[in-house]
Amino acid sequence: MLSDSLNVSSSFPFIQACRRQPVARTPVWFMRQAGRYMKEYRDLRARHSLLEMCRTPELAAEVTLQPIRRLDVDAAIIFADLLLPAQAMGMDLQFVEREGPVLSGALRDADAVRRLKDVGDGELSYVGEAIRIVRRELAGKVPVIGFSGAPFTLASYMIEGGASRDFAQTKIMMYSAPELWRELMEKLVAVLAGFLKSQVAAGADALQIFDSWVGCLSPGDFRQYVLPYSRSLISKICGLGVPIIHFGTGTATLLELMREAGGDVIGLDWRVELDKGWERVGYDVAVQGNLDPVVLFGPRHLIEQHVDVVMRAAQGRPGHIFNLGHGILPTTPVENVQAVIQMVHSFEHHTPNRVASLRER
Ligand code: CP3
Repeated sequence: MLSDSLNVSSSFPFIQACRRQPVARTPVWFMRQAGRYMKEYRDLRARHSLLEMCRTPELAAEVTLQPIRRLDVDAAIIFADLLLPAQAMGMDLQFVEREGPVLSGALRDADAVRRLKDVGDGELSYVGEAIRIVRRELAGKVPVIGFSGAPFTLASYMIEGGASRDFAQTKIMMYSAPELWRELMEKLVAVLAGFLKSQVAAGADALQIFDSWVGCLSPGDFRQYVLPYSRSLISKICGLGVPIIHFGTGTATLLELMREAGGDVIGLDWRVELDKGWERVGYDVAVQGNLDPVVLFGPRHLIEQHVDVVMRAAQGRPGHIFNLGHGILPTTPVENVQAVIQMVHSFEHHTPNRVASLRER
């Protein structure tokens, strides 16, 4: 199973770029490429709740495939949510219209942390089921990305009970109850490692770890309270034979430390220049990014200018995956998304770094 997926994976430009191999054209996909900016998604969503869509393999597979039918992207990301493991650990999860996710029974003391359940094989198996359907339907067209939250970002939702501006409760636990913080992070590492392994067993060709909110921390706090656990998670999954993308936002001061924690690909957001970010994480890892999602609302010439800046910064160096710095926003015009894909795919690098002979013309 695994060796089978390895053989197939290795000829995908997306996977080749993750491994810093030269590619004929830069691969591109978008975080949140399945979502509300697409009519197909809104139509299905009108009939089902978000959780129902995540937990029903046929629906999750259908939503995963919607952008693949409409857009010439180089990878599919399985439709799921970062918070599903919190639900599997026993927390009550709801998505409230216009408010976002709400986890009741926010973790504020040792009892709450100790009540969290270990997650058995079956609990999140609907995600693996969806991956199996997607893989079958794709029939080798593009690879499938599995994902989870990083321990910090998942912990922050579980402690805050939902979205947060300042992450005060999360930091209070970190600073005031370091032993409890460690206990929680170790539990999350175990659950997330099992979850990610199950996605690879189901056929995921790559894994992305979303540390979306880790940018709220200072480098010193990242090193002390986050790095050991992100590193531990990545070390448990890096032998599975699939590339790992380590992503965060607001991470301009944390890039070297994220790289130290691990990953074959480091995600960059738009607050850093791609060439400078790449130099800092080192050319022995690949990078993914980093257009500002809001640029997609601009006129075509402005979009073109911004895509050009990102592509030029990559210099045709093997190991760049084009993406936004964060997810596509809900009202983004689809035709602008299509235009970006076209711009990336047709971009000509005038640099010796590019292996011209690989171009399929
Ligand atoms: O990228 C994809 O296409 C795969 C699907 C995906 C979803 N959530 C579906 C979703 C992925 C990769 C996620 C990850 C996720 N979920 C993250 C990390 C990525 C990031 O954006 O930083 C986070 C922080 C969450 C938690 C979460 N889920 C929030 C904060 C929200 C509400 C945000 C909002 O815009 O309303 C969700 C809901 C959610 N998850 C939506 C989608 C498509 C919007 C849901 C809807 O249809 O109502």
